[in-house]
This record gives sequence, structure tokens and C-alpha cells, in this order.
Amino acid sequence: MTIKHYLQFTDLTADEYAYLFTRAALIKKKFKAYEKHHTLADRTLAMIFEKASTRTRVSFEAGMYQLGGSVVHLTTGDSQLGRSEPIEDSAKVISRMTDLVMIRTYGQDKINSFAANSRVPVINGLTNEFHPCQIMADLFTFIEHRGLTAHPLECLKGKVVAWVGDGNNMANTWLQAADMLGFTVHVSTPSGYEVDPAIAGLSNTNCYKVFDNPMQACEGADLVTTDVWTSMGYEAENEARKKAFADWCVDSEMMAMAKPNALFMHCLPAHRGEEVAADVIDGPQSVVWDEAENRMHVQKALMEYLLLGRQ
Ligand code: CP
Ligand code: NVA
Repeated sequence: MTIKHYLQFTDLTADEYAYLFTRAALIKKKFKAYEKHHTLADRTLAMIFEKASTRTRVSFEAGMYQLGGSVVHLTTGDSQLGRSEPIEDSAKVISRMTDLVMIRTYGQDKINSFAANSRVPVINGLTNEFHPCQIMADLFTFIEHRGLTAHPLECLKGKVVAWVGDGNNMANTWLQAADMLGFTVHVSTPSGYEVDPAIAGLSNTNCYKVFDNPMQACEGADLVTTDVWTSMGYEAENEARKKAFADWCVDSEMMAMAKPNALFMHCLPAHRGEEVAADVIDGPQSVVWDEAENRMHVQKALMEYLLLGRQ
């Protein structure tokens, strides 16, 4: 039997996303009503963190318990991964004792090697290149705010998402989503921090447009989104990035360029006064708390799907 991994956004089809969003809505409704939903009873999720996390850890761990399963939490520092045990050997061992693995690590090559040696599905909980679980949650949040229908992907078609900031893992994943689901990303990054369409492996580079000026990128946008100037693993570049990114702060003037009903998203953690002004992230167009909560609901649907298929 082929194992279904979720290593990047393109590992699922549009049809599978439509199913997952509908399922996530049901799972969320049951969670809010304190209704039991133990579809993964007796299953174990291994979570491997080579970088820090709040949301990813809590959403996967709480989510797995709510599905009736259990979790094992590993970090580089407290496992043999930090003492040079090869990733391939770790994958062979961990996947003989658990049913599902979530990894947050550095290079995508590392998670690919783990998956190639795993007997069970592997989920990308963030790499330098991609953050697919976050984009799944962001799309679900957008759909929820526009009104979930029997065709959840319809409201994404033709929409404009403004990406303001670093051409990073989040930006690459937004490009993959736009390519698949039929919307456009207006990307504005400082020079030297551009997105690289080769990383996203796009079938169609018309799914994004590059703007030197972030104000112009926001013009007419349905969603404005940003992320930290310095991602995990790039801390040595922090001072240079602070200078380069100074004009890439999403403030109320930028939001005013977008559509009046535009939403603001940020995967968090956020730095108020750097990539986003406090009155934007804490203002009426911001949906960042729904976005964070939805990580758990979509990932519950994802874990269930990878192990059990459509329910
Ligand atoms: N957005 C996100 O992945 O947050 P954490 O780094 O806290 O997991
Ligand atoms: N781009 C950020 C996202 C954190 C959730 C990072 O990789 O650190």
C-alpha cells in the first residue's frame, strides 16, 4: 500500500482540500459542542521538533488527544537526532512504533529522507521551504469568513492575496496554493529576499505578480498577509534584515489600499512594530486568532484522512 505523506501543499489535490475543509468544519463544530470524535483511538503521533514551536505543538498534541490518540514529543536536544543518528535510521525506528509522524525541521531534503524511510505517513510541520499546515489553516479561515458552502474552494477563485515581506516558507506555500486553487498572490519583498518559483515548483507562474512597492501589492487585495522578517534558522541575518525590511510593515495605510472587506492574517508569532503595526494585527480586519485555532481543526481532519481516508 502506498503511504500518503503531506510534505508540501501539492501533496494533496484541490478535490482533497475541498473534502478536508468540509471535514474540518464538522470536526470544529463537534469540538465546540464537546462531542466526542475518537476516530484515531489507539493511534500514536510522533512529533519531532528541530525548531521551536507553540502553535504547531499545541495544535497537533491537543488535536491528537481529541481524536482519541496519543502523542510522543521529541526534540533534537533530547533525542539521538541531536547526536548525529542518521535521519534515515531515526525514520525506520520511529515509524515502527507509531502510526503517524509530524516533523518541524530545517531543509526539505531532511523531511523527504525521513518520509522515504518511514512506514507511516509523515506531515510537514514547517521546513525552511514550506509550511503547508499553516496555509491549509489560512485558506480554511478565509473560507469560513466568507461563508462555508458545499463548494468550499469556490470563494478562492480569482481572489488576490497580498504577501508583504520575506520570500520564505510561507510565501512559497502560498504560491503553491494559488497555482492549484486559482487565485493570485501579489508578492512584495525587499530586494535580495525574493520568492524563487523553482522552490515552489509552479506549473504556472501567472499565479503570482511581483511588486517593488508593498502598497501597490496590497491594492485591491482580498487578504493581506505577512510573516516575521527573520525566520527560524536565519537569526544570524537579523540585523541586516531589520534594515532591509523597514518599509515592509503592514500598517493601516497599506490595509487601506486593499478591499474594504479585506482580511489580515499572520501565521504568528508576530513582532508588532516590525512586520505588522499593532493597530492592524489587533484591529477589526485581523483574523489571526481564528487562523491559529484553525490549525488544530484542519490538522485533525488531515491526520484522520492520512490514516483512514475519507470518512
Ligand atoms: N505558526 C506557527 O507554526 O507557529 P509555531 O511556530 O508557534 O508553531
Ligand atoms: N517563517 C517563519 C514561520 C514561523 C511559524 C519561520 O520559519 O520561522
